[in-house]
Parts: sequence; structure tokens; C-alpha cells
Amino acid sequence: MSAQSSNAKLNAWVAQWAKILQPREIQWCDGSQTEYDALCLALVKSGTFTKLDEVKRPNSYWAHSDPDDVARVEDRTFICSTKQIDAGPTNNWRAPAEMRIELTALYTGAMRGRTMYVVPFSMGPLGSPIAHIGVQLTDSAYVAVSMRIMTRIGQGALDALGDGTWVPCLHSVGAPLADGEKDSVWPCNPDNKYIVHFPETREIWSYGSGYGGNALLGKKCFALRIASVMARDDGWLAEHMLILKLTNPQGTHKYIAAAFPSSCGKTNLAMLIPTIAGWKAETIGDDICWMKFGDDGQLYAINPEAGFFGVAPGTSYDTNANAMNTLLENCIFTNTAFTSDGDVWWEGMTETKPARATDWHNQPWNPNSDTPAAHPNARFTAPAGQCPSIAPEWQDPRGVPISAILFGGRRRTTVPLVTQAFDWDHGVFLGSIMASETTAAAGGEVGKLRFDPMAMLPFCGYNMADYFAHWLEIGSKTTANKLPQIFFVNWFRRDTDGRFLWPGYGENSRVLKWIFERVDGRATARKTEIGYLPDSGSLDVTGLKVTSDDLGVLLNVDAAGWRDAIPQIREHYAKFGDRLPAKLNTALDSLEASLA
Ligand code: GTP
Ligand code: SPV
Ligand code: MN
Repeated sequence: MSAQSSNAKLNAWVAQWAKILQPREIQWCDGSQTEYDALCLALVKSGTFTKLDEVKRPNSYWAHSDPDDVARVEDRTFICSTKQIDAGPTNNWRAPAEMRIELTALYTGAMRGRTMYVVPFSMGPLGSPIAHIGVQLTDSAYVAVSMRIMTRIGQGALDALGDGTWVPCLHSVGAPLADGEKDSVWPCNPDNKYIVHFPETREIWSYGSGYGGNALLGKKCFALRIASVMARDDGWLAEHMLILKLTNPQGTHKYIAAAFPSSCGKTNLAMLIPTIAGWKAETIGDDICWMKFGDDGQLYAINPEAGFFGVAPGTSYDTNANAMNTLLENCIFTNTAFTSDGDVWWEGMTETKPARATDWHNQPWNPNSDTPAAHPNARFTAPAGQCPSIAPEWQDPRGVPISAILFGGRRRTTVPLVTQAFDWDHGVFLGSIMASETTAAAGGEVGKLRFDPMAMLPFCGYNMADYFAHWLEIGSKTTANKLPQIFFVNWFRRDTDGRFLWPGYGENSRVLKWIFERVDGRATARKTEIGYLPDSGSLDVTGLKVTSDDLGVLLNVDAAGWRDAIPQIREHYAKFGDRLPAKLNTALDSLEASLA
């Protein structure tokens, strides 16, 4: 059965693009299991998918990509606002008219020999006042099946759309097939990728890549870059944040959102199993958070996604058992290794390595091989509903009220384990100066420190100075006691030998407990130059195996390190010129003065 649209504008849009893209056929996706299974079978036949052992991992598939299509491509990501200043200094910009001409030429005939899938999807629970609808055109069956896991696709989304407006999402792998030409296992156009956003008309045009964030357009392109623009215009927040529910031993719960850059621990924190007695954590979302004000003046959050597109390497029963148990069936694994017994494997999954496997390059691999079996950015695609820690209310259309917002990066030095901002504006200041070491989630150098404000550097669809102003504005829309408290965390502090000072993962529950109790006004703290830090005894360290020396470093204010950072922060701010909100410069001046 194919989905039926009675939205005349949508039907006209699909017809208009079909003329340009010239697919062999058009398939409207209804989102059914039958359709999913048929598409997966076709992907097995074409060699993109290998079915995993049906007993070991039912209804699951392994894919390996083109080696040049393994991550987001930030240098090929564009924000095409009419004026360059509206894209700001941190985004690549091209004039929209020029970009449309360039890409229309590439799109002409781009789907020849392929099927064009029309994928209607809802970001957020169907019909939620916080949700929004998109429709993606794609010539990739891999993308169509991935969208079914990651979003709510099919007739339900069309029904929710009615005759309303949607975010048009155009996607082609940019690899048309001539008559009789054999398809490649991972069609893409490695030298000619474009991830393009038109913020003013709220459109997405993507070309040349089949990888996650470049191709599953509901995720970073819509739910962050386009949604951040919608949020600015309509007074809400679209953020690169996990959402978790934390319950204390007395049975009281709070909802916490946390923004960490790509591959910096969101999925792990969202699914953590507390190591402290009596505390319980449940998952609402692991990557994206949309927050709108409720009638009571509080911010209510939904997870706009329906699945997890998570980093595989490092995921194990020791570090993230909830993720491991989410991956038992109905999953897609991309760029992991494939074992000789029909299962998947990645570095860090088990202590014992498989004796024989096929690596992500589709080459024979064994434990003596000198390259990793899985790509460092290998990913799993898994339905959120089958996560053992998923909270019962994860699909509540009203969203959940947020009590605390955490910002955090991957920082080997300077940044303490946890800091509480003095107030909302100070929290926005700390978010705006956050920096993190780059990871394999995007192309380019790994481990390079860069400013990544609010973990949104690659995802903010407009001028980041205006984004800071928007955050400050949000803080003035309600009374202070209704706003979430803002915290700053860092699980990645190291010593000079590269050893992590903090055990992380489940032990992060100790920090969450302090945050929970700060929000309640119970845990004690000391006021420092950079914010409130746990004072001695207020962080629960019962049973924790961390030396008091290491704890001292983790909870110390490295005044010299912060002083050294000030000139770099000034340089970071200078890029925004007079668009930068004056409040932020004032906050930086007072930080500098307090450190003197
Ligand atoms: P994206 O999906 O790219 O947005 O990433 P993410 O923010 O969800 O990161 P994820 O939780 O997948 O973690 C990325 C990597 O960081 C994995 O290899 C984890 O094992 C590692 N990691 C996560 N949490 C911790 C922690 O508390 N301590 C340490 N040392 N490593 C961690
Ligand atoms: C990220 O890079 O932050 C991800 C993976 O969550 S992707 O979908 O590729 O953006
Ligand atoms: Mn992410």
C-alpha cells in the first residue's frame, strides 16, 4: 500500500521535482513493516545490506559505506540566507539564487535509473503541538528505511499534515544509473557533496552523500538547522541535547537536558545506569531536544526523533548496557565490522576480539590487523521504543518540563567536572564560550580544540550572535524560578599521560545527583570566579574509586588556565562584531576581572 496525499501543494511539489530528477519510478512510503521488509530485502539483493544471523540479531542488517562517505561534511554544509550576515561568521554561506542554479543543474536527471521515495515524516509525536512535519524525497532505499527508524513516517504524518505546510527535504545520492548499469554497494558522489539549507524558505537540499546527518534530513538539517530558525522566529529552542528523567530515592523526578558536541557523550548519559543507590535514570531522547513554553511559563521538551543513530565504538555492556540491549533486534549497523558468525562487532564492544571478521572496508580482518575493524564513526540505527531505559512518557505530546540544562565538551584541561552558572544569563555566557575537542563524527582533524557554543557550531541555522541573543531573550520570557538552572560539565579531564581522571559513564550519576539537589536548593556549593562548584562533601563519592588528588583537580578552578583562555575567547567573540549581545562582553569582562 502506498501513502495517499490530498495536499495539493505537496503533490505539486513532488511532481515538479520528479520532472527534474527523472526517477525511473516514484514510491510514496506508508511506513508499514511490509514496506520496510521489502526495501531491506532489495538492499540485501543490491549488496548494500547483509542480513545478520536471524537468531543472534533478528531483523537486523550490516552496511558498509563508501570510505569517502563516513561522516558529516561541515565544509560542504551551507546556510543560504539572502544576506551573508544572517548566516553569520561560523557558517558557510552562498547566495540562495546562485546555489539553486548550481544544484538544480546537478539534480537534473540525478535520479535516472532509480526509485524516488517520497517519505512524509513527523518530527515529534504525531499531532503534538511541539512537533513539525517534513517530507523527504530520496533516491536511497537505505535512507528510506533509516528514516522509518529515526522518525515517524508514512500515512500518519500525511494525516497530521492535512493541507498544512511541511519542510521540503530534497535528497539525492547524486549517482544516476544508465540503462543496464550495475549499481554500487554504496552509491554516493564523494567529490561533489552539498548539504544546503535555505532558512528563509525553510527548505533543505542535500546532494552526493548517503551518510546519517547528511542524508537523514529530519535529523541535523531539519531538527537543528531549520528548526533553530523556526525557534528563533517563534520563541522556542531547538537544541543538540539529550533529555533524561532522573528519579531520587524518595521517588521525586526531574527532567534534565544536556548539550554535548557530536561524539561527546549524549547517548551514554541519556541511557546511564546510576552507580549510586536508589537513583533511577530513564531516557527521553539522546540527540535533539525541542523546547517550547507551556502555559505555566516552564519550558517543555520533546525528543523530535523516534530512533537513535548512535556511535558504536566504545559501546559495551560495561559502558552502556541499555544501548547494548536496545541493539538486540530491528537495527541497522553502518561501518561496524561483520563477524564470521553473522553478527556485528566494533572496538570496545567486548574485551575478546572476534577471531575473524570483515572490516568496515569489507576486507578480511583479524585481531592482528593493524587497522580498526570498525570505523571510529561507525553507527547503529535503533528504534527508541525498544530501549530498556526509555521513559513511559517519552512520546507525551505535551513534552516534559525541564529543570536543568547541562553544557559540556571534551576537555582534557581547565574545565572542572561540574559548575553551576550564577543565573540564566551567566549560563548563556558559559554556553557561548564552550569549546571541545573535535571527533570522528565530522570530517577533518580529530582532537583539535575549537569553540562549539552550546554544541551547536555545526548546527545553528543562522548567525550565532543572534542565537546567543535568542537564548538571552528566552530567559526574559518567564520568571527566573521557572527557568531551568544551567550547569557546565566535563567528563573528559585527563592527566599528562592521557589517563581520564573521572571514570565517567554510570559514575556521572554522582554529578547528576548534585545537580538535582542544587535545583532543589539542598546541595551546598562554593562560589568561584566561574560559577558554583561542589564544596567538600557535597558531591556523593561513596564507593567511588577516584583518588582525592584527582578529585581535587576535577573540582578545582584552574585560574591560570582560564586566564590563558581569555584572549582566545575575545578572538572568538570578535568574529561576531557588533551583532554580539553586549551582555556577553560584560560577562567576559567580569570573568577576566575576577581572575586577575
Ligand atoms: P553523537 O551521536 O555524535 O551526537 O554523539 P553523543 O554525544 O551521543 O556521544 P556518545 O554518547 O555516543 O559517546 C561518544 C563517545 O564518547 C563514545 O566512544 C563513548 O564511549 C565516549 N563517552 C561517553 N561518555 C563518556 C564518559 O562519561 N567518559 C568517557 N571517558 N567517555 C565517554
Ligand atoms: C552528530 O554528528 O552529532 C550525530 C550523527 O548525531 S549525525 O546524524 O551524522 O549528525
Ligand atoms: Mn549528535
